[in-house]
Amino acid sequence: MQKGERVNFGSKVGAILAAAGSAVGLGNIWRFPYETGNHGGAAFILIYLACVLMLGMPIMIAEFTVGRHSKASTGRAYKVLAAGTHWKWLGYWGVLAGFLILGYYSVVAGWTLEYIIEAVTSGFANKTPEEFVEAFRSFSQNPVRPLVWLVVFLLATHFIIVKGVKDGIEKSSKVLMPILFVLILVLVGCSLSLPNAEKGLEFLLKPDFSKVDSDVFLGAMGQAFFSLSLGMGCLSTYASYFGKETRLGHTAFSVGVIDTFVAVLAGLIIFPAAFSVGIQPDAGPSLIFITLPNVFQQAFGGVPALAYVFSVMFYVLLALAALTSTISLHEVSTAFLHEEFGLTRGRSARLVTSGCIAIGVVSSLSLGSMQEYTLFGKGFFDLLDFVTAKIMLPLSGLLVCIFVGWYLKRSVSYAELTNGGKQKVGFLGLYMFLLRYVAPIAIALIFINELGLI
Ligand code: TRP
Repeated sequence: MQKGERVNFGSKVGAILAAAGSAVGLGNIWRFPYETGNHGGAAFILIYLACVLMLGMPIMIAEFTVGRHSKASTGRAYKVLAAGTHWKWLGYWGVLAGFLILGYYSVVAGWTLEYIIEAVTSGFANKTPEEFVEAFRSFSQNPVRPLVWLVVFLLATHFIIVKGVKDGIEKSSKVLMPILFVLILVLVGCSLSLPNAEKGLEFLLKPDFSKVDSDVFLGAMGQAFFSLSLGMGCLSTYASYFGKETRLGHTAFSVGVIDTFVAVLAGLIIFPAAFSVGIQPDAGPSLIFITLPNVFQQAFGGVPALAYVFSVMFYVLLALAALTSTISLHEVSTAFLHEEFGLTRGRSARLVTSGCIAIGVVSSLSLGSMQEYTLFGKGFFDLLDFVTAKIMLPLSGLLVCIFVGWYLKRSVSYAELTNGGKQKVGFLGLYMFLLRYVAPIAIALIFINELGLI
C-alpha cells in the first residue's frame, strides 16, 4: 500500500480478509503444529486458546484502535498519538521485530517452493516415511538450494511491495484463501483415515497436565502473538486503512476465529499422520515437511492422480498464504524507512529485502553447514525465532496494553470501538478490563515465571 494514496479497504469484508491474510500463514500450518508437538499436545492447545481469547483479542482491538485513530503506519502512529513522548520507541521496536521475523520466516517460505517443485515432479511418489525424513534433512542442510529459494521468495515479496499490494494480492487472496480452507478440510479427512490416526487425535485432544511447565506458557503466548500477527504493528498498520464503518471488535473476533480454526485443522492433519507413520511429534521445524508428504502418498486410496493434484495445490496455496504474511511484514519496515528517512519506497524496499536476505542466509545455514555455531545453546534460526516470538512480540504487546488501556484517553477507545457512537457495543467493559488488567498481568507473570522468579 502506497503512502500518500491512503486508500481504504473496499469493504468491511475486505478489511477482515486483509487482516486474516496477514494472520493466516506458516504460523498456523508450520509453527503451530511443531510448537504443539514440542510442548506435549492438548494441554498446550488449551493454554494457547486461553492466550488467544484473553491476550490476543484485546491486544488486536487495541492495535486496531492505534492504527485507525492515528491513520499512520506503526513507525509513526505513536508519534501522532503521543507526540513528544518515548512511546515512539514502541513503534520502532515493532518495526525491528517484524524485520527480524521476515528474515527467518522467508527461509521456511522458501522451503514451500522446493516442495512445490517436488510435488510437480512427482517427487513424493513411492517414498517410505524414512526417505521423507532423509529428503528433508539433506535439502535443508544443503548449502545452496534453500538459499536460492529464500532469495526467490523475498524477491517475489519485494516485487509486490514495490508494485502495490491492492489489486494483485488482495483480490487473489479473496479467492485463494477459501480454496486453501477447503483443501485443508479434505486433508483432515485423509489424515484421519490413516491407520492409527486415533493416537494423533488423542495427543491433540487429551490434555496431560503433568507436562505443563513454564516453557509451555511462554510457548503458547509466543505462538498466539506470532499467529495473530500481533506485537509489531502489522495489524495496526492495516487498521490505518480501515474505513469508518469497519467494526473493530467484530473484525478482531473474525480474524481470531479464522486464524485459530486454520491452526487447529493443521494440527488435525499433521498429528494423525505423524503417529500413523511413526514420526515423533516433537520433530521441530521439519514436522510438516516430513509428515505431509506421507499424507499425500498414502491417503488417497491409491489414486496417484488425486494425490498429485492435491499435493501440488496444497504447496502452491501454502506458499501463497506465506506470501500474504511476508508482504504484511515487509510493508511495515518499508513504510517505516520511507516515512522516517524520506527514502523513496523503491529504495526502502531494496534495503529491507537485502537486509532480510542477509539474515535469511545466516538462519538457513545455521540449520546445516553452520550448525556448530550456537549462542545460548541455540542456532541462529532458533535464536531468532525465540527472541522475536517469545520475547519481543509479547513485550510490545504488554506495552500496547499500557498505552491503549492507561495512557490513551478512554474516549478515544470508545469512539473507535463504537464507530463514533453509531454502533452499540456490549463488550466495552469486558474489553477494558482485559486490556488494563488481565492481559498485562498475564504477560508479566508468564515472563516472570519463565525467568524462574516465582
Ligand atoms: N501471522 C503470520 C503467520 O501466522 C506471520 C506474521 C505476519 C507475523 N505478520 C506478523 C507474525 C507480525 C508476527 C508479527 O504466519
